[in-house]
Parts: sequence; structure tokens; C-alpha cells
Amino acid sequence: MTITIVSSENGRSGAMAAMQLMREGGSALDAVELACRIVEADPADHSVGYGGIPNLLGEVELDASIMDGRTLAAGAVAALHGYGHPITLARRVMEETPHVLLAGRGAERLAAELGQREADQRTDAAIQRWEERFAQRNVDRGAMPALRTAASVMTGPLNLRDRAAWGERIDTLGTVNFLALDGQGNLASAVSTSGIGWKYPGRVGDSPLIGAGNYCDNRYGAAACTGMGELAVRAATARSLVLYLKLGMSLAQAGAEALRDLDFLDAREGHYMNIVALTPDGEHAGFTTIPGKQYLYQQSDMKEPILADRQSLTSDTFR
Ligand code: GLY
Repeated sequence: MTITIVSSENGRSGAMAAMQLMREGGSALDAVELACRIVEADPADHSVGYGGIPNLLGEVELDASIMDGRTLAAGAVAALHGYGHPITLARRVMEETPHVLLAGRGAERLAAELGQREADQRTDAAIQRWEERFAQRNVDRGAMPALRTAASVMTGPLNLRDRAAWGERIDTLGTVNFLALDGQGNLASAVSTSGIGWKYPGRVGDSPLIGAGNYCDNRYGAAACTGMGELAVRAATARSLVLYLKLGMSLAQAGAEALRDLDFLDAREGHYMNIVALTPDGEHAGFTTIPGKQYLYQQSDMKEPILADRQSLTSDTFR
């Protein structure tokens, strides 16, 4: 069995720790949780956990999910405010409640009942960015309704597509994905995010939705998404890719089919979707609706994770 870890481009430090854990006999499930925790704790990653880009009101709301490929058990939290490490809370939802997904106040209540300490997830840099962009708009005091501001971020004068076209670095769509195959042949997947920057309060993306941004089944494979979550929610992207594998497609064919589903939704620059996937025999791939994106992978005989190109519908593989 080739122990393997696959992640989105921003998962390097987590991937290395996950690989070390699995080399020492640790499970894929423990590995993906550990990997997410490392990225969640990193204030330099503005799309995940502590230091994530706030919502329109200047609050950081976190989403995460975890799935165990042995049993299809899954846990998730959404719109979690005031507590860190959503991936561990997601795992506790999976293991200690009869539910799959807890959102908002319910997730925060669970965190408190489990003894997790409240922790402001905003860094000074994130607060400053929010203040520069939104404080004078008085969104929270109703002078500029959040609804109008949110619409403007997505489609109006502040929209992501135009900002990307003007050359602005868009770091408001990030998320971290980890897919792992351990020495026992088990798969696990984990996804964590602070969601789209400047989102409407309470907005939930694909990351905590099992089937949309995360899916894992020992028999067929695992898949997870980064990018504009609304696309993966509408196309049920992670589950679709794994279902295409179940139906007998190769990994490349399954990825292409998932991309065609997204293509129908008008995915584009600033409104894109990326997928990583891993099969039970260790084959891995990355897919993207916009060319030029990469992902990371490491197998047990490799010293460190390396970047590989994601395939898009324009790649030679699919012609
Ligand atoms: N992909 C993360 C999100 O849309 O929230």
C-alpha cells in the first residue's frame, strides 16, 4: 500500500505532518485532521481558520468537514464563530453526536460543552483589511445593507471576476483540502475554510457540505474542492466525482465529467472551482475549471510534497 497525502496548494506544512504520522502507523483519519489543524493555526493563510478573511460584518465564520472512507461516517460544522479548529469540532460531531452537520449557535454550544475555549479568530491584519474595505460603509449599523454589499462583492462593482481581470490577487476564495490513504488502505478526507471573504453573514459554502466540497469512500475514492463553493454545492461535485469512479470511469474521465458539470454552471475566472481526488490504490489527480492551477501530493517514498498541474477541460489529456 502506497501511503499517500494529497492537498490543495496551501497544504504543504499540514501534508508533511500527515505523512509523518501515517509513516509511523497513524490512520488516514488522524492524518487529515492533524493536517487541517496546522493550516487552521497559521495566521498567514487568509482562507482557513485563524486569520481567515472576515465576513461583511468583520467576523470570521469557519466551515469544516471530515469523512471516514471506511464507514462513510462524516462530521461538519458551519458558520462557527468565536472558536478555533473547526476540523476537530467536525470530527467530534461525527464521533460524539448522532448528527452530521451543526451550524452557528449549535456548533458553538457544542464547542463550549466539549470544553473548547473561546478564541477570537481575527488577526490584526484581517481586521485592518475589513476596516479599509467596509468599516466606513457602516454595514453593521444598517447604513449600507449587507445584502447590497454582498451582491456587489459577487456581481457588482467589487465583483471577483473584474478584480481578477484587473490583476488583483484574489485570496478570498481559498480553502484547504486533504485526502489521505494510510498503510491499512483506508481513505479519509478533510476540508477547512473561512469561506469566501466578505461573505454575507451565515453564508455556508461547499466545504462543510458532505457531497459538495468533500466526499470519501474506501471502495471508490475521495474528492474535495476549493474555489467558489456555490458551484460545488450546485453540482454536488465531490460526490459526483466519486460516483463517476463507482460507475467505472478512470480517474481522468471522472474528473473531466465533474468539470463538465461545473462548466454548465458558467465557472470562470474569479468564479472557479478546483478538485483534488485520490483512489484506493493511490492514484491521484487535480482538476480545475481555469487552467494554470496546481495541487500537492506526497507518497511515502518522497521526502516532501511536490506540486503537480491540475487538469482542465482544455488539457491535452481530455482532447
Ligand atoms: N470553497 C470554500 C467556500 O466557498 O466557502
